[in-house]
Amino acid sequence: MIHYRKLNVDNFETMRLELEAATIDKVNANIRFWGEHYSWFETNAPTFYNFIESRKKVPIRMCRFYLTPANDFLAPHADGTSDNRSPIGLNIPISGYQNTTMDWYSCPDDNFENGHLGFNKTPASKVIDPTKLVKIDSTVIDNPTFVRTDVVHGIVNDNPTCRLVLSLRFPYSYKFGQNFEDVMELSGL
Ligand SMILES: [Fe+2]
Repeated sequence: MIHYRKLNVDNFETMRLELEAATIDKVNANIRFWGEHYSWFETNAPTFYNFIESRKKVPIRMCRFYLTPANDFLAPHADGTSDNRSPIGLNIPISGYQNTTMDWYSCPDDNFENGHLGFNKTPASKVIDPTKLVKIDSTVIDNPTFVRTDVVHGIVNDNPTCRLVLSLRFPYSYKFGQNFEDVMELSGL
């Protein structure tokens, strides 16, 4: 299985600077996660919004910013629950992402506890025994990157600065959402 696909976006630095400027107050307040409606981006991060508009094949279900504090981590988990996974996300790095990793792990099926265990009580599966995890892949999210979120994943930030990433999510479906190309036109990226 492919766990991630980095996109080569021409004007990514412009997008990143717009997103950084639009989120500076929340970052300074050290808010761990927050959501914005997709329409918020049209005025606050227009380069990013126009890129998504020109490529998306399905509606955007959720746009959420995640801040990982300095020298901290996000424990390995899977998004959604065993019978209704949130299979993929498009992650946009905004700041503090150098020298951080997103890691994927194999996990026995009976090693999940399902519940409203994610941020804001979103459905997520917690790993019961972390010692049964085996790391199977790792990357630095340093470009817009499609990631699998139905495979156990976690974040490590061994830096003295906080890390901010935006994650876009698409409608739950077994027809769409299983493959990156099902939700966005990726040709040339
Ligand atoms: Fe996740």
